[in-house]
Amino acid sequence: MLKKSINEALNEQIAMEAYASNYYLAMASWCERKGLEGSAQFFYGQADEEREHMMKIFRYVNEADGHAHAPAINQPDLEFESFNSLFEIALNHEKKVTKSIDRILKLATEANDFRTQNLLQWFVDEQLEEENQMQTILDKLNLIGDSGVGLYMLDAELSKKAEEKEAEEEGE
Ligand code: FEO
Repeated sequence: MLKKSINEALNEQIAMEAYASNYYLAMASWCERKGLEGSAQFFYGQADEEREHMMKIFRYVNEADGHAHAPAINQPDLEFESFNSLFEIALNHEKKVTKSIDRILKLATEANDFRTQNLLQWFVDEQLEEENQMQTILDKLNLIGDSGVGLYMLDAELSKKAEEKEAEEEGE
């Protein structure tokens, strides 16, 4: 049986992943309206991935005899200052998610809850990947700028990234 405090923390994490999914959806919509098709595909992919994260925790909580809560739907920002700001917001949010995962992992470690530790270890690796990905895009944006040819090139690169991820998932 899942400890109450860990169950609650995991439900908070479920809500956080759902919010991240919504945020990426809003970003995808913003990009699509600006004609940035590749970036829109990238953010749609991110939104799907966050929902998968949510479901991974959700299913685990019930399997572990806890009670998974379907989260409230909070509307994220719908407008963004610039292309650059999308990735700044994304990186900041990913950092918050990492902190939250670390906090729950600490709780699970103190409670000798090895199953939850095992689940969260997957998220520790995933977060490292997500933060690195957003940081790398931001570094590139700082190098080439977020207008004109630079923006066009990055949009094409994000389209390729989205396709690769999709192919990877289909191959799994
Ligand atoms: Fe599932 Fe990117 O946090």
